[in-house]
Amino acid sequence: MRRDDDRREAVTYRVPAKVNLELRVGPLRSDGFHPLATVFHAIGIYDEVRASRTAANKVTVAVTGDTPGLAAVPQSEDNLAARAAQALARSAGCELGVHLQITKRIPVAGGLAGGSADAAGALLACRDLWRLGNSDDELRSIAAEVGSDVPFALLGGTAVGTGRGERLASLPEGGTFSWVVAVAERGLSTPAVYGELDRLRHGTAVPELRVTDSLVAAIRSGDPAGLAEAMANDMQAAALSLRPELAKTLDVGRQAGALVGLVSGSGPTCVFLVSDTAAAETVEAALRSRAVAHEVLRATSPAHTASVPD
Ligand code: C5P
Repeated sequence: MRRDDDRREAVTYRVPAKVNLELRVGPLRSDGFHPLATVFHAIGIYDEVRASRTAANKVTVAVTGDTPGLAAVPQSEDNLAARAAQALARSAGCELGVHLQITKRIPVAGGLAGGSADAAGALLACRDLWRLGNSDDELRSIAAEVGSDVPFALLGGTAVGTGRGERLASLPEGGTFSWVVAVAERGLSTPAVYGELDRLRHGTAVPELRVTDSLVAAIRSGDPAGLAEAMANDMQAAALSLRPELAKTLDVGRQAGALVGLVSGSGPTCVFLVSDTAAAETVEAALRSRAVAHEVLRATSPAHTASVPD
């Protein structure tokens, strides 16, 4: 840490969105969560969280940005970033105040873990601002209490997630990938999509949860075709059942030349892996001209969480 950190009045972190390159979901557990075997992968669409000192010992939040669904993000202590800051203060055993300024670019309730990104940014920024000595492991366990996807957002990159997604093992990455991201106008509730998956399955047996070796190998070698072949999402059928129009979005992107198109996490965002910039342009143009997305973004991956200098 720099010597002048002692005098810092504000700290900013940039935290990426995630997609699940593979998402395998087991049967509902007695604690209300589902066991997962997933490959989290961060893509270059970022929220920024700026934590600044306040006179009062309370946590306040302001959210700006122009991403769809922004109006639904609470600017109160219900915001996941505020809950994360409060959890960190509690773990320090003292009353601490902060103002969190969140600049959102990650689509809201989109299956891209934008709320988790903000929570992770708040944990990292408040640890620095408050000069707490929490180790990365301690921060990760506070993150897991805040939400299943928050521990991954502390890191970014690529990682296998097990448990309810909070147990992580980072994976080696050997290249960059290009994505086109189709954003829906309205988000989907994560618990509703899990519930729909349970309903569609009618309690039928679920195969053993594990991630596919060829997918891990494709990430290691930076092979988009190999990655496209192995990508899969158990939640997709449930997201399509709740939002049938997403099938058309996926079709348009695939027919325009995407290597693969998949619902991201619990949706409704659809992500398309493409081979190069020219293919990205073609897929983006098709999604726009057929009006099958509210907004279309482009991103490269992997992406990482990092502090932003003032
Ligand atoms: O952990 P998080 O707060 O993001 O989870 C939101 C909801 O999503 C949970 O309350 C649960 O209904 C569902 N969930 C699940 N299994 C997981 C993660 C989330 O059923 N592994």
